[in-house]
Amino acid sequence: MPENDTRWKTIAWQSPSNIALVKYWGKYGDQLPMNPSLSMTLSRSLTRLHFSYRPAGKDNPEFSFEFMDKPRPDFGDRIRRYLEKISPDLPFLKELDIRVESWNTFPHSAGIASSASSMSALALALAVLEREITGKPDEKDLMRRSSFLARRASGSACRSVFPGWVEWGSSPGLPGSSDEYAIPVTDGIHPLFMEFCDAVLIVDPAKKRVSSSTGHAVMEKHPYREARVIQAGKNLHSLLDAMQAGDFDSFASVVEQEALSLHGLMLSSDPGFFLLHPNTLAIIDKIRDRREQKGWKMCFTLDAGPNIHLLYPASEREDMRAFITGELVALCHEGRWIDDAIGQGPQNLS
Ligand code: PMV
Repeated sequence: MPENDTRWKTIAWQSPSNIALVKYWGKYGDQLPMNPSLSMTLSRSLTRLHFSYRPAGKDNPEFSFEFMDKPRPDFGDRIRRYLEKISPDLPFLKELDIRVESWNTFPHSAGIASSASSMSALALALAVLEREITGKPDEKDLMRRSSFLARRASGSACRSVFPGWVEWGSSPGLPGSSDEYAIPVTDGIHPLFMEFCDAVLIVDPAKKRVSSSTGHAVMEKHPYREARVIQAGKNLHSLLDAMQAGDFDSFASVVEQEALSLHGLMLSSDPGFFLLHPNTLAIIDKIRDRREQKGWKMCFTLDAGPNIHLLYPASEREDMRAFITGELVALCHEGRWIDDAIGQGPQNLS
């Protein structure tokens, strides 16, 4: 970029959130995962982000951040700290004035983690900026580089740069898998899992009592740490096998075991804590009862919070809508739920 060109330039991306089915819980080093994880990229829970920059004309470069058209110093500080952390990899950042603005398509108070969508959008903008300034990464490495940069902002964000089903974390038997970045695993997946839906049932939209950073930290000395690493590695392969074979029952049993294990690890931490709400348990009971009665292809997963993700193939949509509106919304906060589905990944809006 010519130094005398002081006009602002903007790189714009839209990036989705994702829901993990095999959960990342526990880390080491610079946000490297203790175990491999597998997620589905969503299509309607999105962050749109504008990254604007120009050569800094003074010693103290300018930085500003706005969320939904308003300053948010708390989010801004987090982004500033992240940019400082990665500046050894992207040294040109120190010589730029930077403005970041972002907007979410989902309500901030929906209990949906926005760090995966927002930090992946930011990392994509940074990888494009890096290419503009240094000529690298080339097109084929852009997503991998973005995933690497996103991981260092928020672990789960590294999976959001890819569409469909995405794996993160080194796993024997999965070629190309790495702790450093995520990889897409959509090839070979049975069509049953390629038009897949996620109804996010908002049981409690309040901010979590315990952050995921605290949860990851508690795993360092967790009594079941080793067992958890083994379990996650096995579950990843069982899930991929079920998804290749089109075996919904095996898929559902692994997905639900993962969700309950995540919360079991929280309960058995020292100190133990829980993020579930009585209505979370009531909804799980209803899902399991109804599945037994009707044989519907549906199952639930949970993030690190009380909200339920009800997962089902698109072929079940009609029954699911009736079930959700007839029985489940009554257990949701103000009847709220988000009708989301598997997505095509981020979009360059520049
Ligand atoms: O990316 P983090 O640090 O917010 O951790 C995410 C942890 C879970 O959402 C519980 C699981 C996951 O793999 O996304």
